[in-house]
Amino acid sequence: MAEKNFDVVVIGGGPGGYIAAIRAAQLGFNTACIDEWTNHKGGPAPGGTCTNVGCIPSKALLQSSEHFEQAHHHFQDHGIGLDNLSIDVPKMLSRKDLVVKQNNDGILYLFKKNKVTFFHGRGSFAKAAEGGYEIAVAGKQAETIGAKHVVVATGSNARALPGAPFDEVNVLSNDGALKVGAVPRKLGVIGSGVIGLEMGSVWRRLGAEVTVLEALPTFLAAVDEQVAKEAFKAFTKQGLKIELGVKIGEIKNEAGGVTVAYTDAKGGAQSLAVDKLIVSIGRTPNTIGLNAEAVGLKLDERGAIVVDADCKTNLPNVWAIGDVVRGPMLAHKAEEEGVAVAERIAGQHGHVNFNTIPWVIYTSPEIAWVGQTEQQLKAEGRAYKAGSFPFMANGRARALGDTTGFVKFLADAKTDEILGVHIVGPMASELISEAVVAMEFKASAEDIARICHAHPSLSEATKEAALAVDKRTLNF
Ligand code: FAD
Ligand code: NAI
Repeated sequence: MAEKNFDVVVIGGGPGGYIAAIRAAQLGFNTACIDEWTNHKGGPAPGGTCTNVGCIPSKALLQSSEHFEQAHHHFQDHGIGLDNLSIDVPKMLSRKDLVVKQNNDGILYLFKKNKVTFFHGRGSFAKAAEGGYEIAVAGKQAETIGAKHVVVATGSNARALPGAPFDEVNVLSNDGALKVGAVPRKLGVIGSGVIGLEMGSVWRRLGAEVTVLEALPTFLAAVDEQVAKEAFKAFTKQGLKIELGVKIGEIKNEAGGVTVAYTDAKGGAQSLAVDKLIVSIGRTPNTIGLNAEAVGLKLDERGAIVVDADCKTNLPNVWAIGDVVRGPMLAHKAEEEGVAVAERIAGQHGHVNFNTIPWVIYTSPEIAWVGQTEQQLKAEGRAYKAGSFPFMANGRARALGDTTGFVKFLADAKTDEILGVHIVGPMASELISEAVVAMEFKASAEDIARICHAHPSLSEATKEAALAVDKRTLNF
């Protein structure tokens, strides 16, 4: 027996792990969470990728750069004049770092409040033991702790291109992309996925000439086609150069910058010379240092921990959640799985509905959706009705001066049940919640159409799109 024994030990303190630990403690379990993320002072920085190099810092920079773009291009429409507008990148980065620290500290506070024992260090399986597992903690002080249940929430890492390792100086993962100390003159981005578009937008708004190279011939293939088309139009109008259907060749990382050789969609040999290159081609599940072999924890060919629909692994009382398992790599998906697993350990019926997990891309315009796309419904042969409403016809959007995009509803042709909602436009990230709630309650488009929405608000576009399913919009 180890000296310190817990009912639940969570390995990884990202959004999946720290939320699982808090929920387990709320349910009365003696709970520990081990996380190895370290801040620049050598102290703990729980919150994982999301808090340290993902959701939170990227949104802080998106906000700063959006303010700059507004001041640069749109304040004059409001009669506001500014002379000598400038951007202090180091200050912008310090603000971002402060936002990150506030979140790290918040999680440490929540651990205390909920009586979760926190270990700063790397957790790994030592061995299976009587009634559970022994977990080795390699931190400032090495120790071994006992666990009846183990929840693995070790997250994911950025995937590098073969032959172009991240040096975080010129060839950047999401980590380096959030730390560029001055606006690059020319920025290359490989992969027009979520990170590529968000980080590309940040540096474009601040003045970089940004070129995005994407392997697929289709822009944002997982997004509703009509939304992807509208977004592509808006991004290219803003000056983001997006080349689709390319094949990346040799990448030369030299003192002066990076040169990317590639073949364009027509088969022509091309070369792109940039000061910095962000490689955002997806992420791989992280089990480095977990010593999964010691206990026979099963991984799949991608390195993800194999779990069933309930996040159970092949080992008794070992669970895995978040980016390290199948499903979308999203913070809120990881959190929901964390809550569900803690509740299952307590014998309750935790549940995650994969069909109502919202997606948001925090570009400008924002893109958000839930449920199925029109192309998915067509492929399934499902009979559906579609209705959409443009922000151009919404009073609040006009007052905001942000009329790009639309809200689109897809509903079952017979029952009118909402099957998907797709938004491209202002505050899509907030507007999508109404659609998520509606779908969780199996609402019909008519239900939304008959609900009173505040005027003037962007949410009226949601109501009008629901009305459009029945071809009876009032303001368009
Ligand atoms: P992680 O957040 O990766 O946390 C895992 C933690 O485990 C880390 O702290 C790691 O250090 C620790 N760890 C790993 N191994 C061990 C070990 N053996 N011992 C101890 N500790 C260990 N998602 C969204 O929903 N919205 C967004 O806006 C968004 N923006 C993003 C922006 C960027 C640039 C990136 C890269 C990602 C973004 N994501 C976003 C995705 C989101 O960050 C992840 O889906 C989420 O962090 C996954 O949570 P997790 O708990 O599974 O893993
Ligand atoms: P991604 O999967 O979103 O996009 C990767 C893109 O790179 C794809 O379009 C893919 O076709 C392309 N690609 C792959 N290999 C390529 C190659 N060799 N050459 C050129 N293009 C190539 O992955 P990304 O952007 O790295 O983000 C990882 C994950 O992080 C996302 O899938 C998402 O789950 C999460 N994330 C979520 C955010 C949000 O919710 N707002 C923000 C940022 C990240």
